[in-house]
Amino acid sequence: MAIGTVGVIGAGQMGSGIAQVMAQAGINVVIHDVTAELTRRGVDSISRNLDRMIQRGRIKPEDRDHVLARVGTTGSLEDFSRVDFVVEAVVEDEDAKIELLRKLDAVCPPEVIFASNTSSISITRMGARTSRADRVIGMHFMNPVPAMKLVEIIRGLATSDQTYQATRALAERTGKTTMTAQDFPGFIVNRVLLPMINEAIYTLYEGVGGVTDIDTAMKLGTNQPMGPLELADLIGLDTCLAIMEVMHRVLGDDKYRPCPLLKKYVDAGYLGRKAGRGFYKYDAQGNPTAPQG
Ligand SMILES: NC(=O)c1ccc[n+]([C@@H]2O[C@H](COP(=O)([O-])OP(=O)(O)OC[C@H]3O[C@@H](n4cnc5c(N)ncnc54)[C@H](O)[C@@H]3O)[C@@H](O)[C@H]2O)c1
Repeated sequence: MAIGTVGVIGAGQMGSGIAQVMAQAGINVVIHDVTAELTRRGVDSISRNLDRMIQRGRIKPEDRDHVLARVGTTGSLEDFSRVDFVVEAVVEDEDAKIELLRKLDAVCPPEVIFASNTSSISITRMGARTSRADRVIGMHFMNPVPAMKLVEIIRGLATSDQTYQATRALAERTGKTTMTAQDFPGFIVNRVLLPMINEAIYTLYEGVGGVTDIDTAMKLGTNQPMGPLELADLIGLDTCLAIMEVMHRVLGDDKYRPCPLLKKYVDAGYLGRKAGRGFYKYDAQGNPTAPQG
């Protein structure tokens, strides 16, 4: 299957990163978000990332121009009738994702694959709500997408071998390594990672340690590059909560109960780095200034 153009829906931190790595691999991309302003922010973020890569000597200025020339935007889902493959990276909400996939189902030719970047939601359930369950698959990029080497591929119950092979090949074209997970909440990466982050939030909630104590303990004590609270802020606390809620509800085990403090922060709009405030406060450049509270 020749994939010349990929449609990316959702121009947040993940969608913009996915569009960037696709364009860097020589693939044309079309990005769409709910407003023109949000779509533009996604392209601006790609542009800033490429500038940083030039400063670090990783790419040449002309490479940036070639990459950006492959990044298009659209305000209309109708334009997805002309793409060969879709990656959705909208908010981690099953209803929102299903509504979007159903709209795309009516617009895209039947051979087009719908890949979801979901962190936890059932690929099988999403696929079953379209007319192409065999062409719906999980393509879980890691954050930040340009830096992280892994793409976790998730097969729904009805996902075909052809869809799986085409998706793996596309991920590998972007220079990523793939592994495959079965379709259960959180798959492999988040099934293991999110309970650790949630437990770190419980240790804060119960006063076992402060923000920097917990992050320093886990960084220096267990050799992790980022502390769990720093990482939660990077992921987005709304996304962390959504993932825990899916695991708690679907697996039905209280060991996945989201920490009340996580819920409280999300209620307050302290969503982490993208909101300038989470377990840490951030300056305009996204650098942590001080722990929250
Ligand atoms: N943040 C992470 O570390 C991470 C890692 C892997 C996967 N993911 C998954 O990627 C997806 C996106 O996460 P994110 O961190 O980029 O979130 P984000 O909040 O940065 O961006 C989400 C974007 O989706 C847009 N959006 C929402 N509904 C839409 C719709 N109907 N049509 C078009 N755009 C829509 C929002 O306007 C927003 O710009 C989620 O499914 C999340 O679970 C996140």
